[in-house]
Amino acid sequence: MRLNKYIADAGICSRRKADELIANGNVKLNGAVIKEMGCTVSEGDKVEVNGRLIEATGKKVYVAVNKPLGYITSMDDDRDRATVAELVADIPERLFPVGRLDYNTTGLLIMTNDGQMAYTLTHPKHEVFKTYVAKVEGVISDSRIVRLRKGVDIGGFVTSPARVKVIKQMPRYAIVEIQIREGKNRQVRKMFAAVGNRVQELQRTAIGEIRLGRLMEGHYRKLTKQEIEYLKSL
Ligand code: URA
Repeated sequence: MRLNKYIADAGICSRRKADELIANGNVKLNGAVIKEMGCTVSEGDKVEVNGRLIEATGKKVYVAVNKPLGYITSMDDDRDRATVAELVADIPERLFPVGRLDYNTTGLLIMTNDGQMAYTLTHPKHEVFKTYVAKVEGVISDSRIVRLRKGVDIGGFVTSPARVKVIKQMPRYAIVEIQIREGKNRQVRKMFAAVGNRVQELQRTAIGEIRLGRLMEGHYRKLTKQEIEYLKSL
């Protein structure tokens, strides 16, 4: 197996990122730094990335996690905050999140050790519609909905067309479902702020056809065969 694929299969990163690690001298094969592209790994070889021995068992794991409030979407945190890694700590494979959710956003996060898939799914070219349910302050008028649908300026970036549906309008707040394809930093919050409705709560309920469903906060479930096939087909 090619070295870059071995590294991606071990859940470290995408193949392309693995090429960078190799070129930068961060990878050792049987104790020696290897910078040669296209090098292959055989049974019994020892591969180290940044000094850590890695293992590609070939077993791919895909889970849907319901991220609670107050967790960060990374594998460790220098400020000692809770991380999503803790939510899948009983899975022996090293899983990492596909894309990210804000500290204050709850809901669906896919985690996997399939580096290639993680890379493909977050690449702008392949971005699927992600569904969010937002509780926003105040009244959301029809003209604001039209603006959100067409695209709004969120500070130097105009969002592409979105699908927007008001689920409930109460006197002081509204519950709105919004589907976007892009994944700019804090995009949904910025979009609502741009039309004058501050987001109070935000939950992601679906990524393409993968749904959060009734998964409890802080829990995970393995994706079904059909869901994995669907993600691979994107
Ligand atoms: N948009 C946001 O504002 N926050 C998220 O976590 C995801 C999308």
